[in-house]
Amino acid sequence: IPAFSQSPPNPFKVATEATFPPFEFQNNKTGQIEGFDVDLIKAIGEKAGLTIELVNLPFDGIIPALQSGSVQAAISGMTITPERARAIDFSRPYFKAGLAIAVQENNDTIKSFEDLKDKRIAVQIGTTGAAEAKKVPGAKITTFDNAVLALQELVNGNVDAVVNDGPVTLYAIKDAGLKGVKIVGQLLTEEYYGIALAKNSPYVQLINDGLAKLIESGQYDVIYRKWFAA
Ligand code: ARG
Repeated sequence: IPAFSQSPPNPFKVATEATFPPFEFQNNKTGQIEGFDVDLIKAIGEKAGLTIELVNLPFDGIIPALQSGSVQAAISGMTITPERARAIDFSRPYFKAGLAIAVQENNDTIKSFEDLKDKRIAVQIGTTGAAEAKKVPGAKITTFDNAVLALQELVNGNVDAVVNDGPVTLYAIKDAGLKGVKIVGQLLTEEYYGIALAKNSPYVQLINDGLAKLIESGQYDVIYRKWFAA
């Protein structure tokens, strides 16, 4: 008999910041949270026999919620960084992303991080984009609760650029009809998303096993194609 076996709580609470399409966003008809991350975590839940309950939190509230135990995990397009990995645990990477710069369509001067010197930049609070923007000399950073608001500020001409995850900015322009802005260049960083858990969480293995099964069975690809169709 194992001395102590921790069976996961059911429902299994998973935090997300649901304004990050196509990874997580609220369907404005049903109010339900949908997206790539949502399909992925629900499929992992099915493999593990867990009912997933999503908890919508501000992005900078996710790590504290993991630490306090009010949620068991988080899936929120969250980049695995060494700094975060000191505070929390991550699953194996499940998505390759990176930062991109967005500017107004008629802007031909900003093409790289160097060109952002002394410029006005909008970012989402607590993100890798915010951290990267803060390194730009002389830049005036405006922080928003979500990436959609940051992009809107660019459309309105109140900032010169937005630093945000490339796949999310691209989706806003190509699929959500955001007008008047474009992405410059390539992905400027290489980042990997991971499912976040409390430090030394007993559920890391459970999540990793579920992810592995989804990848092996081809279900990961089905979910990927649903949200990132060519
Ligand atoms: N990948 C970036 C980061 O980890 C941005 C994530 C923002 N996610 C969200 N659901 N708002 O900092």
